[in-house]
Amino acid sequence: MKITIDGPAGSGKSTTARLVANRLGFTYLDTGAMYRAVTWLAIESGFDLQDGNALAQLARQKTFRIESQPDLTRIWIDVKEITQEIRSIAVTKKVSIVAGHPQVRDEMVRLQRKIAAEGNFVVEGRDIGSVVFPEAELKIFMQASLDARARRRHLELQKKGVESAIEEIKHDIARRDELDSGRTASPLIMPTGAVVIDTTALTIDEQVDRIVAEVTKIRE
Ligand code: CDP
Repeated sequence: MKITIDGPAGSGKSTTARLVANRLGFTYLDTGAMYRAVTWLAIESGFDLQDGNALAQLARQKTFRIESQPDLTRIWIDVKEITQEIRSIAVTKKVSIVAGHPQVRDEMVRLQRKIAAEGNFVVEGRDIGSVVFPEAELKIFMQASLDARARRRHLELQKKGVESAIEEIKHDIARRDELDSGRTASPLIMPTGAVVIDTTALTIDEQVDRIVAEVTKIRE
């Protein structure tokens, strides 16, 4: 069985997807981490981030390994672990540019389908229910107000000891929304047949319960 969770930055997808996977004994796949890894690689290699062909070719030459642990996604390119590096502000600012190239997406989607080919998965991203696994048994679309999403990111950073200005985060998220929803290659959309969950006023536990209840309904 596959559960897809799509939605904009800060809607609560990652935390929810991870907890749903833990609760159901499914494997969690964070596809954002994969686009972040390519972005890190491109910056590190000094590539032009506008050159989709070159970036896809660069990605093709590397081996990506992703491992989902109960509260952490670990990721490697060849033998180098870049689990921390992909969460940097520099990567976060550029990832939507890199993810906008159809050539890069083809490469990542191929990997995602291979990783989640067999077994029970919760797959999270922007185009999972619409493009990667349109036949998934359960598709979720999570959304929340921009203010709520910026507040969550701010708190998340604060917990990690990183000080940030909420207005700047809001601006960055809005910019990423615009790029992710406005691009021609697999834009962020609400997939057909998706269950929509607005998380503005929900707690994480409530979000998880809602999704688990949908799974129970399907299994009955
Ligand atoms: O956690 P957050 O929402 O900040 O981002 P993420 O899920 O790690 O995804 C980072 C970026 O990767 C997104 O803003 C998208 O530009 C891109 N992405 C994508 O295009 N398609 C996916 N399936 C997943 C992520």
